[in-house]
Amino acid sequence: MDIGAIYPELAQAQVRWRHLPAEGDFAGKTVLVTGAGDGIGRALTKTLALYGADVVLLGKTRTKLEAVFDWIAEHSATKPVIVPCDLNFLDQDSAEALADQVRGEFGRLDGLVHNASALGPKTPVEHYPLSEWEMVTRVNLTAAVTLTQTLTPLLRETGQPKGAEASIVFTSSSVGRQGRAYWGAYAASKFAVEGLMQVLADEFVHEGAIRVNSLNPGATRTPMRRLAYPGEDPATVPPPEARLDLHLYLLSDAAKGVTGQALDARGWDGPP
Ligand SMILES: NC(=O)c1ccc[n+]([C@@H]2O[C@H](COP(=O)([O-])OP(=O)(O)OC[C@H]3O[C@@H](n4cnc5c(N)ncnc54)[C@H](OP(=O)(O)O)[C@@H]3O)[C@@H](O)[C@H]2O)c1
Repeated sequence: MDIGAIYPELAQAQVRWRHLPAEGDFAGKTVLVTGAGDGIGRALTKTLALYGADVVLLGKTRTKLEAVFDWIAEHSATKPVIVPCDLNFLDQDSAEALADQVRGEFGRLDGLVHNASALGPKTPVEHYPLSEWEMVTRVNLTAAVTLTQTLTPLLRETGQPKGAEASIVFTSSSVGRQGRAYWGAYAASKFAVEGLMQVLADEFVHEGAIRVNSLNPGATRTPMRRLAYPGEDPATVPPPEARLDLHLYLLSDAAKGVTGQALDARGWDGPP
């Protein structure tokens, strides 16, 4: 596969990757990524498909998902599925329907990446509108809980056979590990996501079927970054492909047994 011809930004980034998957490492695997229509999620789903994964693309804007679907259909032999869904309104019934759809389509789920996020206003907590606080918490935390609950049986079945292990990856942030003024519900929800990751990892550790980790991608050139730092020159920020190696590692068999870790894509030294 000539990645340089298909996806030049990926080929450029891979030169600095600390973990390089082998071609076909994800063949036969199914991975669901939320927020797959833009930013890091878009780069991740395209890359996973090039490495052989069937990807389930969940995101808010249908046209963005369709564009990623078309790219994957053109450049890989995998079977992508799009799921337009506003996580702010995700309820148990629609999450169950999604789990049924993934089971019916693929019969397995090897990876679940909670990547979609709402930034919310950057304002002092004293003045933070409660309706915005609730929206950010629903998208960043409650939707991840709902999806994890409904997809756990399929992840467990996929990860149970000897030698297999399914992977859940939560996406954190620097402000989810050290609070910072004006980051309000975004920061608080990312702290909660770290806690959720630890609770789940501990709940699953004895079964050995599902590993659970979180990663902080660090500053990345995406629409969310532009929203958070409007004065920043985007050229000074790494593109989404730069640090996807940590995502791929956590989703691959190379990370078997790695669970309960809060990793930082910037400072990561590569697999042990
Ligand atoms: N970029 C950074 O510098 C940075 C740094 C630290 C952590 N992160 C984390 O990395 C993850 C990805 O961020 P990103 O920078 O790639 O963000 P992004 O460019 O804004 O992309 C986020 C994706 O999530 C989707 N999304 C947002 N709200 C949604 C909702 N209610 N329902 C369904 N989908 C929704 C968006 O869909 P639409 O495009 O259709 O709205 C978009 O595809 C986030 O968890 C973020 O917190 C990013």
